[in-house]
Amino acid sequence: MPNFTHLWIRNLYFAVRLIPNACYDTWRFFTYSGLNKSRHYQGEQAARITMAYHQLEKGLSFASPRPGFGGKTVTRLISAIEPFVSQYGFIPPATTAVGVLKSYIAFNELNDIDMSETKRSVEKLESFAARTEDCAGGVVSIDLMQLEQNRAAGFKHFFNSRYSIRHYSGGEIPDEHIIDATQTAQKTPSVCNRQSWKVHAFKNKSVMRQLLEIQSGNRGFGEQASAVLIITCDLTRFVHVGERFQPWIDGGMFSMSLCLAFHDLGYGTCCLNWSKEYGDDLALRKIAGIDPQEQVIMMLTVGTLPEHFQAARSIRRPLGEILQIHTEQETR
Ligand SMILES: Cc1cc2nc3c(=O)[nH]c(=O)nc-3n(C[C@H](O)[C@H](O)[C@H](O)COP(=O)(O)O)c2cc1C
Repeated sequence: MPNFTHLWIRNLYFAVRLIPNACYDTWRFFTYSGLNKSRHYQGEQAARITMAYHQLEKGLSFASPRPGFGGKTVTRLISAIEPFVSQYGFIPPATTAVGVLKSYIAFNELNDIDMSETKRSVEKLESFAARTEDCAGGVVSIDLMQLEQNRAAGFKHFFNSRYSIRHYSGGEIPDEHIIDATQTAQKTPSVCNRQSWKVHAFKNKSVMRQLLEIQSGNRGFGEQASAVLIITCDLTRFVHVGERFQPWIDGGMFSMSLCLAFHDLGYGTCCLNWSKEYGDDLALRKIAGIDPQEQVIMMLTVGTLPEHFQAARSIRRPLGEILQIHTEQETR
């Protein structure tokens, strides 16, 4: 016979402990993220430039990019680069953004679209550059045969030959391949081996359409996918206040493994963010039939690859910005 008073006291104890932690998380996110309009972090400015050039790079990698697409994004991008460059110099991601703009101009000019205004802005930005070869960005052309060779050439080549794919050939994916990839991804490490993840796989076109519509970051390519996956984590498997973000960590690592497992099987994938507010979350749960205790981590399109296609280059940040090897003196 459970002791209800004891249970009630324990529940109250954890609820009370969650509140200051939730406030702490909210305060940290509000203070240091781009939500805080009274600060202008370099990181936020860099993120806004990256988000804008990524929109263009992504559009260029579609099966049939629409000439003249992204006019508003170009304006937003240029007006984000100018203050960044005058404050921090012509450094990444401004350099990458200029590379993307040049690819965008070249694509549109090939399609007889007047790009003179954008060209003038890019030339002005380029005049800040010490070396023009810094400006790499746009799309990379991929040949299926070459991709297969890279996949077989050891871990580094395998890893580097994975791209987010936004151009699928529309073939079918058998259930066995979804099972195979999921089984491979099960080798992902997780906190105390709790393996809280779950994969919801959808191949029905009408359901896929509804799921993709609510996600929205897949416009222009999602409908060509062979399957849409939703990766979730089961909250019932987390038992401490300190674990409140663990589902996203374990689920994120699992999702990466899943992408690599599909890459190994020869499919293209594109992670789709579930950075949503509660209304969309509730709507998705209803369409997909996801139990309330499951936390949605992300969605994933999986599709067959054409013989030749393009992928966004998605140039990585300079290593020096993301790797800090702490000296012994520093850590003492
Ligand atoms: C959690 C997550 C969410 C993402 N969401 C989207 C999305 O909604 N739409 C999209 O086209 N790409 C999305 N991406 C793909 C990223 O744009 C891509 O991973 C990034 O540009 C790096 O490129 P790469 O995957 O080709 O190396 C997402 C990636 C991650 C990891």
